[in-house]
Parts: sequence; structure tokens; C-alpha cells
Amino acid sequence: MNSTILEVLNLKKHYKQRRGIFSAVTGKGNLIRAVDGVSFYIKESETMGLVGETGCGKTTIGRTVLKLTPATAGKIIFDNTDITHMSAGQFRPYRKQLQMIFQDLDAALNPKMRIKHILNEALTVHGRPSDSELAHRIQDLLEMVNLKKTKLTSYPNELSGGEKRRVGIARTLAVGARLIVADEPTSALDVSIQAQIVNLLKDLQKELGLSYLFISHDLRLVELISHKVAVMYRGQIVEVGLAGRIANMPRHPYTAVLWASLVDKKSEEILKAEVNSGTDEWGRDPERQYSGCRFAPRCPVYHAKGRPTICTDSDASLQLQKIDRAHQVRCHFPLYPAPAKLLNSAGRP
Ligand SMILES: Nc1ncnc2c1ncn2[C@@H]1O[C@H](COP(=O)(O)OP(=O)(O)OP(=O)(O)O)[C@@H](O)[C@H]1O
Ligand code: SF4
Ligand SMILES: [Mg+2]
Repeated sequence: MNSTILEVLNLKKHYKQRRGIFSAVTGKGNLIRAVDGVSFYIKESETMGLVGETGCGKTTIGRTVLKLTPATAGKIIFDNTDITHMSAGQFRPYRKQLQMIFQDLDAALNPKMRIKHILNEALTVHGRPSDSELAHRIQDLLEMVNLKKTKLTSYPNELSGGEKRRVGIARTLAVGARLIVADEPTSALDVSIQAQIVNLLKDLQKELGLSYLFISHDLRLVELISHKVAVMYRGQIVEVGLAGRIANMPRHPYTAVLWASLVDKKSEEILKAEVNSGTDEWGRDPERQYSGCRFAPRCPVYHAKGRPTICTDSDASLQLQKIDRAHQVRCHFPLYPAPAKLLNSAGRP
């Protein structure tokens, strides 16, 4: 059994959203609960997929876990060490082991440096290897990510999207990554290249025992690469379980709507309405905290059951509940365990 490399406990990241000209002076503003009490763990050589619509807090989780932004509350434990409140100096030895692949293909690549220098720089983070050792390691990296040697003299802007992504991955390997947060790593690429990158990440995992937090909008892609999947809705995990079960037998109404939206116009509209409107259908600002289930205004089960008050009662009773082996759901009325495509909008087979 592989050991746990990352454990996240009740993580919160809140931002203050300033509104109006006086907010800068008064310091008052709405609180955005971008991440609001999230817990999960990732084992060595394991991939956890994180899905959910835009703005639900996926990137914020990735950035907070890697300490690129400080947590508001909660704990981040990496390799059995609590890194949450480490100073920059204390965190330095861990920084290289915890790396991010950013959605922006150019984010990690200095446009003024040739690829060879980008990799050289990453390889010398640890110390000063000899020239011949450096050349050897660069050759290894090129082979690992399937990049031609001729590209070493190129600048990033002379590479294709797929090649840039390969260099970005090589860079994280050169630094010594053990856990990689891959934030929409294929979204800027052509479909044919997307599959190559996913396969590359899978191969590297097998070879090097890497662990991934794989963030994406694309449920099909997440299912393909992940061992387990967490589904997020407005700052909270609403369902987590083995990838095959989340894909084929979702128990949370939101997960079912997400899946159904891939094939069904009505579900797609439920999701679009939410993203596009400034307020929910009860006229409330979705950024503001309110009690009970955050999905209730859009939930087909809630409406089919005649709007039961338990769904909109206080948050306290609505926790992630274990409903099956390694499967947890935050819902008072989990769907029947039937394949998603056989469920109607009220979650009945
Ligand atoms: N630096 C910041 N200051 C204020 N609010 C922020 C900041 N960063 C993120 N947010 C807010 O936090 C929420 C979550 O944002 P986040 O980028 O994590 O979402 P996401 O799930 O990654 O979305 P996407 O799929 O579009 O990338 C959003 O409401 C966003 O506006
Ligand atoms: S708790 Fe109620 S409103 Fe929320 S997802 Fe479950 S059924 Fe829907
Ligand atoms: Mg994001």
C-alpha cells in the first residue's frame, strides 16, 4: 500500500472582495469563500482529479496547497510534515518537491532563455553538477518527455503548444517534483495533442512514482487519468470517490448534472444559467454565504421533492457522508446507485 504524500484538512481560503469607492478606506467588503473547508489526501503514485465549473475554487486549492498563496485556515501535510505555516526558509527543501503545471503554457518558461538554459537552470537548483553530468541529465529529460534534441537551441516562442507543455513538464522533473498540481494542463492544446500529454503524464507516473492533483473542466479527461475524483461546487467538495464510480454512478445531483450536461441540453442550461447570472434564481448573490446546500437553487432533486427545508437548513448537518467504499457525498438525498445515463432529472432510475 502506498503511503500518503499529501493530506489536506479543512482547508479554507477566503478573499475579501472590495466593493464601492469606500471599501478601500473602510476595509469592508464581501467575503469570497473560494475554498471553504476542503479535506482530501493523495497517495504516492496516485492521481486525484478535481472537477467543477469555472470559479468553484479549483485553482485556489492548487495554489494554496503549494503555498503560492497562504491558507486562511486548515492544514496542509506533505510527506508527514505540516507545511501550512512554514516560513519561506523552512519551506525551501519542500518547494522543489511540490510543483505546479500552470494552465498558461508560457507561465514557467522565460521567453528570453533557450530551452537548454531553462532546463540547465532547473537542474542546478539542487547544486552544481559537472558539465558532462548536466548534459547527461538533459538527455534523460528529453527522452522522458519525448522532445527532440534539436529543440534545445529554440526559444519558447519557437515551439508548438505541445512542445512547450513538454518543456514545462521536463522543468518540474528537473527540479525534483514528487507531487505535481496540473491545472488544466491540456486546455490550450489541440485534441490530438491533449491525449499525448495525458499519456505522457501517466507514463511518467509509472516510471517515477509521481503524484498528481489533476484539475480540469473536462470530466472525460479527468476520468481517464485519475484514480479518484473530487467534484467541487462553490468552494466545497460535494462528492469524492473512485474515478469509475464518479463517472458511472454519481450519487450527488450536481455530479449527475455535470455528466448529463455532456449529452443533454437541459442539464447544460442548468449549469450555464448559474455561471452566467450574477445572482441565483432566488436573486441571491452566489458569492455570498448562505445556509444549507449551496446547490439547492439548481438542484433537480430538491425541486422534485417539493423543496424540503432540510436542504436549506444550516450548513452544520450537511457534511460529506460515506455512502460506500471510498465514496463520500454531501447531500441529504443521494441519488440511487444507478448509471448516470439512466437517471431522470429527479435522480430516479
Ligand atoms: N486573488 C483573488 N482575489 C479575489 N478573489 C479571487 C482571487 N483568486 C480567485 N478568486 C475568486 O475565488 C473563486 C475561485 O477561483 P478559482 O480561480 O480558484 O476558480 P477555478 O475553479 O479555478 O475556475 P476556472 O475553472 O475558471 O479556472 C472565484 O470566485 C474567484 O473570483
Ligand atoms: S442536499 Fe438537497 S439541494 Fe443539496 S444536492 Fe442534495 S437534494 Fe439537492
Ligand atoms: Mg482555474
